[in-house]
Amino acid sequence: MENNLNEQILDKLTKVCTCKAIPRSKIKDAIKVGAHTVEEVSKATGACIGGCRGYRCTPKIQQLIDEHLKNN
Ligand code: FES
Repeated sequence: MENNLNEQILDKLTKVCTCKAIPRSKIKDAIKVGAHTVEEVSKATGACIGGCRGYRCTPKIQQLIDEHLKNN
């Protein structure tokens, strides 16, 4: 319970896409409701369209998708 809460807090605080300030919680929510490619997550959240054009956030998003698909 406490670990889950800590993870939720960290997910809200941690920016996956720093250019657009998109938190990990938003990325995870998009993945949970069916965005299973980086492009789909980008469309749903606005990630990957900042100054670096996804250079920094694409690998992190792909990792979150892979983790989701492995665990579900
Ligand atoms: S970190 Fe996502 S577009 Fe730059």
